[in-house]
Amino acid sequence: MIEQEKIEEIKRQTDIVELIGHYVPLKKVGKNYRGLCPFHNEENPSFYVNPEKGIFFCFGCKKGGNAISFLMEYEKLDFPEAVKKLAKNLGIEIDTSKGLRYKELYEVNEFAAQFFSSCLNKELGRRGQNYLKERRVDFTRLRDFRLGYAPASGGLRTFMRQKGISTELLIKAGLLTPHNEIFRDRVIFPIFNLSGRIIGFGGRSLEENVQPKYLNSPETPIFKKGDVLYGLFQAKTSIRSREEAILVEGYFDLLSLYQRGVTNICAPLGTSLTDRQAMLLSRFARKVNILFDGDISGIKAALRAIGLLIDAQVEVYIASLPEDTDPDRYIIENGIDQLNGLIKNGDDFFQFYKKHTRVETVEQEVALIKDLLKIISHIRDPIRFDRYLKHISKVFGLPLEVIKKELDRKEEPRSSTQIKISKEEKMMAMILNNREYFHHTKKVLKPEDFQESGVRRIYERLLKNEKFNIYDLTDMIDGNLREKLFSIIMTQESLPESNFVKVLNRYKNGLVEQKLKMEIRQALKNADDEKVKKYQKKLRELKLHSL
Ligand code: UTP
Ligand code: MN
Repeated sequence: MIEQEKIEEIKRQTDIVELIGHYVPLKKVGKNYRGLCPFHNEENPSFYVNPEKGIFFCFGCKKGGNAISFLMEYEKLDFPEAVKKLAKNLGIEIDTSKGLRYKELYEVNEFAAQFFSSCLNKELGRRGQNYLKERRVDFTRLRDFRLGYAPASGGLRTFMRQKGISTELLIKAGLLTPHNEIFRDRVIFPIFNLSGRIIGFGGRSLEENVQPKYLNSPETPIFKKGDVLYGLFQAKTSIRSREEAILVEGYFDLLSLYQRGVTNICAPLGTSLTDRQAMLLSRFARKVNILFDGDISGIKAALRAIGLLIDAQVEVYIASLPEDTDPDRYIIENGIDQLNGLIKNGDDFFQFYKKHTRVETVEQEVALIKDLLKIISHIRDPIRFDRYLKHISKVFGLPLEVIKKELDRKEEPRSSTQIKISKEEKMMAMILNNREYFHHTKKVLKPEDFQESGVRRIYERLLKNEKFNIYDLTDMIDGNLREKLFSIIMTQESLPESNFVKVLNRYKNGLVEQKLKMEIRQALKNADDEKVKKYQKKLRELKLHSL
């Protein structure tokens, strides 16, 4: 592990505005910087960075954290990797050789890939070899993908035992159930993260009657299906240099194009495209060509993907295949050149939508126009936005004013994001925001002074370790409280010491007052005049003091 002190030093030295500004254009507003949130899609900037406190917070999607959590989220790094990257920027040296939190999971996956790959190349893997040959996959030309074969007879467990890897770890890595090896008699596709580490596997059964046809590793701490695109690691340089990507549905579609020289290609992992995947892709590509199966489900998936990709601000084109085929089959039957032709002649999303939405009734037409407007309303580039508006106006014979009216109607009231903040939460935010004065707080407040369990837990933690950082803490308080604290800290000024002490005392007095009032109510109920008087006197004194 990296020492806490080093981490603190790195955090202190990192200029969070410069760091985030590298990825997101930021503008200064007051003491904060503001930009469009990189973690969700928005038209109006609600993503704030506070240089003084070294934190960021999005009022739209409520993501927030410090420089380290920003990198973890944005670059999909784990904690030590993010720290290491920041350290490198600063020229600070750290030893992370022992530090990677998920190191052992990466290691197990790496060993597993070696095992599967060696099996494919042995007599034992003849079934796998034959299958790939039948599918016209030339795995020797696809070295970067490190294809493999999981033998029907298993063997991974024994192989791992020899490497000294425990059953427990294999289960954690998603390669084993307590009883079985997960992949058997399947062709194996290792799944890489963006830095080239293997994070999971996909496996294709060799027999049509073995279900499921494709099996993926279960999700693990390092493998989240909706966050990864298969092939992106291998394709990213090519995508970046062309600023253009091809998106296919299947493993074989991808390999089939790749081995024929079309290398700017990636695929979601068996699920429909997620908004995270769309965002991820938009970091590499300005333009995306969707090349899904020609069947109904392929068209539906494309219609869904269009919205997400437009939201991620990429230009979208869709190549249409004949109904009963997919890219892999199409290439085998017609050759790569013809497929490239289809890609080149892809529809823009507008044409595609019109082509594939049935419009027989007026109501269907209304629905189509509304769908299209909804997509278009998310385009941020003013020129493209304008072009599409004019286009829709022309195609459907709608006056521009009508379209604009409809778009205005759509703008949601922003007040729905108002959050209720309790007194205790406000006080806690104040404490966190003025941590240097914690010695005052300690003298005045006890954990019992907080009724709300989340707030109390933070306070107890502070008492144990004043320096602990709520920005790194997600496990101990619920996300809701974390968001609230963040949003307050983000907008609140740090108080001068004397003011802070005043606020603190006022808070404490408020608590005492409440308690006295309760005692008085109780005494009244018991008709205990003496007590009533005693507490009333105390209450008067208290009020006098706090004037
Ligand atoms: P397809 O059923 O179109 O697969 O699903 P394919 O790639 O054409 O398969 P072949 O050509 O018959 O081998 C497309 C993708 O959906 C995922 C896989 O990623 C697959 O490549 N999928 C499909 C699964 O994850 N599980 C399944 O059971 C089926
Ligand atoms: Mn297919």
